Amino acid sequence: MEIMEKIVSLCKRRGFIYPSSEIYGGIGGFWDFGPLGVLMKNNIKRLWWKAMVEERENIFGLDTTVIHHPKVWEASGHLASFTDPLRECKSCHKRFRADKLTGENCPECGGELTEVKQFNLMFETYVGPAKQTANKAYLRPETCQGIFINFANVVDCMRPKLPFGIAQIGKGFRNEITTGDFIFRDREFEMMELEFFVRPGEDEKWHDYWIKERLKWHQKMGIKKENLRLFEHPKESLAHYSKRTVDIEYKFPFASPAGRQGWAELEGIANRTDFDLKNHSKFSGKDLSFQDENGEKFYPFVIEPSLGVERMMLALLLEAYREEKNNKVTRVILSLNPKVSPIKVAVFPLLANKPDLVKLARRIYEDLRGDFIVAWDDRGNIGKRYFSQDEIGTPWCVTVDFQSLKDDTVTVRDRETTKQERIGIDKLKEFFENKLK
Ligand code: GAP
Repeated sequence: MEIMEKIVSLCKRRGFIYPSSEIYGGIGGFWDFGPLGVLMKNNIKRLWWKAMVEERENIFGLDTTVIHHPKVWEASGHLASFTDPLRECKSCHKRFRADKLTGENCPECGGELTEVKQFNLMFETYVGPAKQTANKAYLRPETCQGIFINFANVVDCMRPKLPFGIAQIGKGFRNEITTGDFIFRDREFEMMELEFFVRPGEDEKWHDYWIKERLKWHQKMGIKKENLRLFEHPKESLAHYSKRTVDIEYKFPFASPAGRQGWAELEGIANRTDFDLKNHSKFSGKDLSFQDENGEKFYPFVIEPSLGVERMMLALLLEAYREEKNNKVTRVILSLNPKVSPIKVAVFPLLANKPDLVKLARRIYEDLRGDFIVAWDDRGNIGKRYFSQDEIGTPWCVTVDFQSLKDDTVTVRDRETTKQERIGIDKLKEFFENKLK
């Protein structure tokens, strides 16, 4: 089985990711996150927020709506330019992204393709009870427009000095022509975006700064250096707002995009210039320029690191997945960074039919639960329970055995080394806190 199939199957079986609306046959490009998936996703978002907002003095958070005034998308250029080239098979009516067409994914029916048409990726809806053009609105395809249209609000209340940033995590929607590769390209997904405002002329320096910062962050999250690389977008493929865009690519194990051996965009880091603030000023009639300490007024330039939560989750799962074969038994291990792992500690009584062991293990479980995400398991033999936790990336398992009843110690087994050490029950909390620092 290919690694992607193994990951998809593990994610379904262990409660990470389910196809959305599965009982009705699913709906392409939509995914639901199960009990473990939601824990992992929240960890990714929290770690991003901590690194990008909380640990920095000059970055502020924001949470804006999914639907904005439709003029926003006129001003941002999305109504005119947020399109992908589309070709349709005249006989089976299957639709393809023209720029991703290769010999392998042409219509199986052998039908003739239409000329290229531009297809706008924004989902349309209507606000209010009347379905008329005047009420047409769009689900946001990126979260950053909510930041630009609130620029003056944030500046007025926070009184920041340049450079400063505004960050947001939230849902984005794109009616992608083709989806696939599991959660890599979805129609509904979450984005983590920072808009970093700088003095014009200092934009190139700050762009380089953020490329380096973001590369470091991915490695801190647990992605190996050799599986990351930078991709410089050629001028002709830049988005309509961009002066320069550099992607951080991850070596995904799938064949698309064609000819790139799996290297595909994980995160985009764009120099959006003053395009958005200028255009929103023009379209809204509100002045979104910035006045510095010397009274000088200008439109700041924007550097934007933008990362999809699901895409990051897929990269982390791929990176962490490994198998160990021992006496024909295959052990699956998710070597996740403990900070990313959905569950931090699992607590077991050595034997489920010994009330003393169960009682003490329950006490430890309940004690740790307030501070960490903890699992309880008393089924099957201890080896199986360890394997079950390895498969979901739990870094530590605590076992209460007969010695525990005598000397108030337990074993803590490490996922990576499989070694066990004895630790005093009263030292457990501190032990895990230090490990997770
Ligand atoms: N505001 C900038 C922007 O939207 P983008 O390169 O189109 O830039 C940013 O998207 C990031 O969002 C990508 O690098 C990727 O991680 C994620 N992303 C984009 N489209 C996606 C999709 N259809 N499914 C999952 N993630 C997606």
